[in-house]
Amino acid sequence: MDFFKDDTPDSWEKLRAECARCSACQLGATRRNLVFGVGNETADVMFIGEGPGEQEDIQGEPFVGPAGKLLDVMLELIDLDRTQVYIANIVKCRPPRNRDPLPDEQAACMGWLTRQIDLVQPKLLVFLGRIAAQVFIKPDFRITREHGQWFDVDGRRAMAIYHPSALLRDPSKRPETFVDLKSLQREIKNLYD
Ligand code: SF4
Ligand code: URA
Repeated sequence: MDFFKDDTPDSWEKLRAECARCSACQLGATRRNLVFGVGNETADVMFIGEGPGEQEDIQGEPFVGPAGKLLDVMLELIDLDRTQVYIANIVKCRPPRNRDPLPDEQAACMGWLTRQIDLVQPKLLVFLGRIAAQVFIKPDFRITREHGQWFDVDGRRAMAIYHPSALLRDPSKRPETFVDLKSLQREIKNLYD
C-alpha cells in the first residue's frame, strides 16, 4: 500500500485546498488570487468560461467584472441567478493582459475543472465562448456557426453561447444569444417535466 496515496473520496474541501496551492502552469506565478468557482454545488446547470480577468483576479471570484455583470443579466432573462447555477473557468488563474489561455495552460488546469464537474454532477453544460467549447465539444468548434446547438458531452446535454465579453464588444450578437438562452430555458424546463 502506498502510504502517501490519498484514496479518500473527493470532496469540495479537498479540491479547494489542493487547487489553492496549484502552481502547475506559469499563470500561477502572476495571479493575485486563484479563481476557483462559485455557485450551487449541486446545480443542474454549469457555466464554463475561459479564465479570470482583472476584477476576477482581484476578487477571487468568476465573472465579477463587466462581462460578469452582463452574465448576471443573461441569467436573469431566463429566471436564473448565481445561486442556482455553478460557474467556473477553464483556467483558474488570470492570463496576463487577458490573453487567451495557452493550450498547455488549459491542459495543466483541466483536472481541477473535471473534478468540479464530477462533484456538481450537472445535467446541462453551457460553455461561454469559443475556448471552452473547443475544449469540450471539438477542437474546430466555430462559435459563430455553432452557438446555440446542443451537443452530447460525456452523456450530458451541452451547448455554447457567445462569451459575454464578445457581447459587450459587439451588441449586434445579443439577439442570437437571447434565442440560445431561451433554448437553454426550455432544456431546463424539460428536466422537470
Ligand atoms: Fe494551476 Fe490552473 Fe492556476 Fe495554472 S491556471 S497555476 S494549472 S490553477
Ligand atoms: N471571463 C471569463 O471567461 N471568466 C471570468 O471569470 C471572467 C471573464
